[in-house]
Amino acid sequence: MLKNVVKFIYQKVNEIKNLVGDKKVICAVSGGVDSMTTAVLTHKAVGDKLVAVFIDDGLMRRDEDKFVTKELEKFGIKVKIYHYAENFFEALKGLTDPEEKRIAFRETFYKVFQKIVEEEKAEFLAQGTIKADIIETEAKIKTQHNVLSQIGINPQKYGLKIIEPLKDLLKPEVRRVAKRLGLSKEVYQRKPFPGPGLLCRVLGEVTKERIEIIRKATEIVERLTEKVRSFQTFPVLLNDKATGIKDYQRILGDIIVIRSVESKDALSAKAKRLPYQLLIKIRDTLISEIPSCVKVLYDITDKPPSTIEYI
Ligand code: XMP
Repeated sequence: MLKNVVKFIYQKVNEIKNLVGDKKVICAVSGGVDSMTTAVLTHKAVGDKLVAVFIDDGLMRRDEDKFVTKELEKFGIKVKIYHYAENFFEALKGLTDPEEKRIAFRETFYKVFQKIVEEEKAEFLAQGTIKADIIETEAKIKTQHNVLSQIGINPQKYGLKIIEPLKDLLKPEVRRVAKRLGLSKEVYQRKPFPGPGLLCRVLGEVTKERIEIIRKATEIVERLTEKVRSFQTFPVLLNDKATGIKDYQRILGDIIVIRSVESKDALSAKAKRLPYQLLIKIRDTLISEIPSCVKVLYDITDKPPSTIEYI
């Protein structure tokens, strides 16, 4: 339990400072509250010895690079953007099995990250691992790509020493730290978004075209549910097709699921009862703005037995 946020920040900044000295620290930022908080905390400790990088893997929400750059600029942190989307799509080609997709993502992530680390010549790696990531990986529920030691990847092989300042905190505690550090409300209230990004929300093969469909759907759902209090609310693209009618033509189109859950720590979750009128509005917008979408479903399952994401 995090009792005193100011004390926590003070302690972590000192710990990082003592550990790192004047060496370089690399931190991959995704835009999520965990990695953004880690970057700002580390920057407080080591200043411009921090190299914040954003890996464009082609699986993020739209304009995420701009969002991250703008937010961290306020703290004097310059973000380097690395474009590697092609590598990820190539690695994901033809894969449909959820765990194989996660593994392909992770391996590509580490391959490109290795290149970046070599280029940047950093000695330390700051990671936004939090308590839930460790618990779920240990329980073998799924492999989280950001818990290196838990998935058999030896950080030493990168010649990197790991800093994980948030690893004893639960999500609500990370949010308190982020707020105190001065990150914007948009960041500290941001809903969790999985490391492998929109890949977790596309069943079946992950292609550029299918990611673009879910990216568009995500924009729509996030815009229409901006004021909804939930742990996460997002769309998912199913692998099946359904018959529908669009522009007076019978087509075999896409099926999009809306998932909205309430949870404290992501370890368990309850399906949220979104107002029916809102669901109708989401349905109409998805159908009209996504040409291939012919069916919209609403997921009412809790975790367990479901997980929050679909992969
Ligand atoms: P599940 O789907 O396992 O998700 O119930 C629990 C929480 O974790 C997020 N999630 C991930 N976060 N890397 C992450 O950083 C991952 O590989 C990953 N998979 C799931 C999910 O969005 C939810 O908040």
